[in-house]
Amino acid sequence: MAVDLLLGLQWGDEGKGKIVDVLTKDYDIIARFQGGPNAGHTLEFDGIKHVLHTIPSGIFHENAINIVGNGVVIDPVIFKKELDNLKKFNLDIKSKLLISRKAHLILPTHRLLDAASEASKGKAKIGSTLKGIGPTYMDKTGRNGMRVGDLELNNWQEKYRALANKHEAMIDYYDVAIEYDLRELETDFFKAIKELKELTFIDSEEHLYQAQKANQKILAEGAQGSLLDIDFGTYPYVTSSTTTAAGACTGLGIPPNKIGDVFGIFKAYTTRVGSGPFPTELFDEVGATMGKVGNEFGATTGRPRRCGWLDLVALKYAVRINGVTKLMMMKADVLSGFDKIKVCTAYNYKGTEVTHLPYNIEAENVSPIYREMKGWSEDLTTFTQKDQLPETLNEYIDFLEKELEVPIKIVSVGPDRTQTILR
Ligand code: IMP
Repeated sequence: MAVDLLLGLQWGDEGKGKIVDVLTKDYDIIARFQGGPNAGHTLEFDGIKHVLHTIPSGIFHENAINIVGNGVVIDPVIFKKELDNLKKFNLDIKSKLLISRKAHLILPTHRLLDAASEASKGKAKIGSTLKGIGPTYMDKTGRNGMRVGDLELNNWQEKYRALANKHEAMIDYYDVAIEYDLRELETDFFKAIKELKELTFIDSEEHLYQAQKANQKILAEGAQGSLLDIDFGTYPYVTSSTTTAAGACTGLGIPPNKIGDVFGIFKAYTTRVGSGPFPTELFDEVGATMGKVGNEFGATTGRPRRCGWLDLVALKYAVRINGVTKLMMMKADVLSGFDKIKVCTAYNYKGTEVTHLPYNIEAENVSPIYREMKGWSEDLTTFTQKDQLPETLNEYIDFLEKELEVPIKIVSVGPDRTQTILR
């Protein structure tokens, strides 16, 4: 049985958590393959909002097994908080949540290093979530990292100490004022490690291989978005993992020839949080309205998200790199009420019109070229059937499908599970 993938196609925050939750009833296993607690996956049902950071979004479904894959980085302290929040649901976490031994651990000093690195960059900072993501992946690729499986060894604390000492020397090197009390941070860390060790650690690639052989249905859940990919995103304003389809192969051990559907999630407009280029960003009332109506604040950091029109140049790029087979358009309801909807179909790149994403999309090189379409005024949030969608929204969807050459199978009209229209 092939493994399906679910990915964000923009700069993250597309609504992946909601769609995984909606799709989970059709899957036996949900497996996160990259990123860490920089993600905030929001799910809403039965009038309650849940935000998950590291735990896969299938956790609330009775029958799904949830796997945190080897490509993920885990902060035990944040993980413990997520688990604490789940306690009231009486889920059988020991059997429903399985953790790869090969996943790397975020240490308290990784978080401090993230802060020091950002502070040292001044205006050129990445705008990271300060969760220690970059330094942890640096230790992974530098072959210095600590993995979940290390916690099963007797000498893991020695390994921890050596790495933390090295990090402290590196923090000093940055020569920026970072106040911290490592002993206090370590108290929480060691407490959280104790709890983590009570969970089930697995060799996830073997588990997933056996599950495929047994014809189980697996959904690989991505975090962040394609434009934050370490290779294909707007470098250096990116995260430190492979957020694109290939990340599911390396982050779970799924062979490329076992990939089935690739679900690409995008918002009907565009948002970005943190620094970096954003060609269709709006600085006017329209952008402010999108932010307000769409409640565009980071689920992890609470930072306001930058908003703008849909960028088809960037979206086409993401669709191609990921081999998307089915699209899902989120937050169509947020665009209700605009007389005109704009879509960026090309860039003016140093005076020439281009329809591909150039190497450098900084504002001094690139300005968007828009196509204008008629808007719609209906409140979509109570709609449940595709034949209720307004004509002008259907025109927008038809145009996007034609341009992207991939069908849009879901239109989301609100944050709740039920506000999901199938096409
Ligand atoms: P980091 O992943 O915390 O190192 O942050 C690097 C960049 O990715 C920053 O611009 C963050 O705002 C952005 N980023 C990281 N995770 C997410 C996410 O889940 N949603 C949106 N942006 C994110």
